[in-house]
Amino acid sequence: MTQVVGVVLAAGQGKRMRSRHPKVLHPLAGKPMIEYVVAALREAGVEEQVIVIGHQGESVRQALGEGYRYAYQDPPRGTGDAVLKAEAALPATADTLLVVCGDTPLLQAETLRRLFEQHLAAGAQATLLTAHRDDPAGYGRVIRGADGRVLAVVEEQDAGTAELAVQEVNTGIYCFAREALFSALREVGTDNAQGEYYLPDALAVLVRRGARVAALEAAAEETMGINSRADLAAATAVLRRRINAALMTGGVTLVDPATTYVDATVEVGRDTILHPGTFLQGQTVVGEECEIGPFTTVRASRLGNHVVVQYAVVVESEVGDGCQIGPFAYLRPGTRLAARVKVGDFVEIKKCEIGEGTKVPHLTYLGDAVVGRGVNIGAGTITCNYDGERKWPTFIEDEAFIGSNTNLVAPVRVGRGAVVGAGSTITKNVPPGSLGVARSRQANIAGWPAKKGRKRAEKDEKEEGENA
Ligand code: UD1
Ligand code: CA
Repeated sequence: MTQVVGVVLAAGQGKRMRSRHPKVLHPLAGKPMIEYVVAALREAGVEEQVIVIGHQGESVRQALGEGYRYAYQDPPRGTGDAVLKAEAALPATADTLLVVCGDTPLLQAETLRRLFEQHLAAGAQATLLTAHRDDPAGYGRVIRGADGRVLAVVEEQDAGTAELAVQEVNTGIYCFAREALFSALREVGTDNAQGEYYLPDALAVLVRRGARVAALEAAAEETMGINSRADLAAATAVLRRRINAALMTGGVTLVDPATTYVDATVEVGRDTILHPGTFLQGQTVVGEECEIGPFTTVRASRLGNHVVVQYAVVVESEVGDGCQIGPFAYLRPGTRLAARVKVGDFVEIKKCEIGEGTKVPHLTYLGDAVVGRGVNIGAGTITCNYDGERKWPTFIEDEAFIGSNTNLVAPVRVGRGAVVGAGSTITKNVPPGSLGVARSRQANIAGWPAKKGRKRAEKDEKEEGENA
């Protein structure tokens, strides 16, 4: 039995990204670039994978976790050298290597499977995955002989005019017979424009030795390599089209797919409508029959069914069935809304638990509060949860009614069914079923405006006299 093992090259510096971070960790639609590559390999049935990492490799290792074998290459002396560094980490039984670059995130599992199946069926020593590109700039060109067989790959920096005109490029994805590859690589030198060990040079060595070198063509789009920020944006656009197409196939309405941004990590239920300017990010789950947007961000949150969110930001929160959020609301981390909660305009909620059917219709800040069911929070209610040193909790029990413009100075509790008079600053608990009012009493002074008017007129007359 042959064992196909993946070798993922991820030790390069990625200079053209001009980044502090490793190229393969740059995110596309919420996931690091390299995760797409290892996922495609896994989906193609390649379980064992050796990841070649280098400078800053620890962060790559941390992102991917321990489900892989790791090899180190530092300094990066070329893709050929990187593969040599993987040798010691290969399982002894591995006889076929599927080598891919960590910077081709659009790669599809089906293409990888086709590559190694054809490679094995043909009994080749090497099979190169190629693509035709309208603009081949930046890629190695595939040089074929008169009989159509692959002879070599010439890097752009080393190519002459005739070679530069070739539109068939090396995708950086290959299948190799293990022994043939390593023995060929030991013959590869650095006599080229970049002074590096080129992996594709192993192909020319194998051809010279009379080995079987085959090729398979794939689509240009899915084999695109990410070298620059512009490439990253182009690949993200492709990915987004794929994600949006899958959402629509799954029964989600996208009013305008061109302005809908859903991460690869998100799930959306059937008959949900996504309006323009919607961003669904991270580990987010949106239920069925929801209406999200326009202009809404939901990050790392769970939304139930029949939830409406418009012009809002929801972060690390849980939103129950039938809730209505926004317009212009901000749910911050740790917020948990039970079913049918209404959070209206200009409301901010942080780390609160809010019971079923409670309404927070407008102009309110709730932080570190536990609010029961059926509560009404009047406009302008503020939980004063921070004393400058630490945060304190507020408890508002079921069916309580908080009048408008109330300050709840925490720690404080408003009991079940209690009422707080509008304009109160509540510093002491309000017992269940009671009214709490904390504001100065109103005094009405009869005739006061007229008296004030007379006094002013007298003063003005006096001043005019003095100035005359
Ligand atoms: C490479 C190929 C080129 C091909 C293109 C496809 C070589 C010499 N050239 O060029 O023929 O058309 O990919 O996208 O292979 N890496 C290492 N160690 C190194 C150098 C690179 O691990 O010393 C890794 C990088 O992290 C990257 C991958 O190998 O994931 C490719 O390296 P990159 O520098 O992007 O190669 P290209 O110039 O794109
Ligand atoms: Ca590349």
